[in-house]
Amino acid sequence: MVWKFEVPNTAVCIGLAGVTVLAVRRVLLFWKATCPSRSLMLGKTVVVTGANCGIGFETALELAHRKAHVILACRDLTKGQNAAKLISRKTGNQEVEAKQLDLSSFKSVRTFCADLNANLPKLDVLVNNAGVMNIPYSLTEDGLETHMSVNHFGNVLLSMQLLELLEKSASGRIVFVSSSLHKYGQVDLHNYNTEEAYKTQKPYASSKLMNLLLARELHQRVSENGKISVYSMHPGMVRTQLGRHSFMFNKYFKVLCFPLHAILYCLYVLLVKTAREGCQTVIYCALAPELEGCSDGYYGNFEKQSWSPKANDLDLAKKVYDLSLKVTGLK
Ligand SMILES: NC(=O)c1ccc[n+]([C@@H]2O[C@H](COP(=O)([O-])OP(=O)(O)OC[C@H]3O[C@@H](n4cnc5c(N)ncnc54)[C@H](OP(=O)(O)O)[C@@H]3O)[C@@H](O)[C@H]2O)c1
Repeated sequence: MVWKFEVPNTAVCIGLAGVTVLAVRRVLLFWKATCPSRSLMLGKTVVVTGANCGIGFETALELAHRKAHVILACRDLTKGQNAAKLISRKTGNQEVEAKQLDLSSFKSVRTFCADLNANLPKLDVLVNNAGVMNIPYSLTEDGLETHMSVNHFGNVLLSMQLLELLEKSASGRIVFVSSSLHKYGQVDLHNYNTEEAYKTQKPYASSKLMNLLLARELHQRVSENGKISVYSMHPGMVRTQLGRHSFMFNKYFKVLCFPLHAILYCLYVLLVKTAREGCQTVIYCALAPELEGCSDGYYGNFEKQSWSPKANDLDLAKKVYDLSLKVTGLK
């Protein structure tokens, strides 16, 4: 029997070459995506919002590895407690606990902050990580569109109510987990809450843009005496449950378009960071000693990035800050 080698056709060759390039890229991504700072966090207390899964969970896990007292602030307490137990088991750190925090409810945020203010001597790092994306239009109990409430106003109320506790730390840090998609958002200070605005203004991107502008104005106000620094960062594209409302996660799409879903999923795995990789710049902003005194940066892959033109509008930042205080009932 004569074995015949058949030269694969061009399309197969291109396909194989493409997959090889993506696989190599994936391996490089893995090696490159580790926070360069090895600092420990012994004696430091950190709050991570939305820490029961995704980037928040991996952030809490890494900070627990580095010996911090970690508080997982989660809207579902049972999920939070399960995550805290898992982190304690994996790291041997017994100072990991979960507390209930629903950012879509001002009442819940106030209760959470009152508890922390009454029971913690100081807070060293607040990681504003929790977020939602592309969820259907809905209003929270405070009458706010849900993206705006969870991704922006809830973060404002939380951060402002924890400022005194952060000031008690030698060098408090607030880290805003933003998104490069903020560039596609728009700020309409008079119309951010209506169904019409939801349909026309890309609510995820707009809420992230408002949050970034808020972070900039907050920096102006709190970093003067050097006690608190404010950092914003974007993690890149990360494989988490954030897109749970997108078609990729739709059960009918998974079943009815199985081959297409399988191809898209393979590309997703090859191209997109894992949550462990995605949390590394959060860790960097939370603890890197070289960032001390460098408040107001926007970071990606451990490097300071330039502000997008929209996030560089400091007059608008002040207006967003004033509006946010008004909406959240803060003075
Ligand atoms: N994944 C990406 O590609 C990407 C890219 C850029 C920026 N980001 C940002 O990264 C952050 C983390 O997202 P992720 O990708 O890790 O998504 P994820 O896996 O969906 O995690 C989001 C977390 O936020 C929590 N959360 C949602 N609504 C909440 C509420 N009302 N109160 C308190 N917590 C709430 C979720 O809790 P439940 O589990 O209970 O829902 C979950 O723990 C977000 O701010 C997101 O905008 C992600």
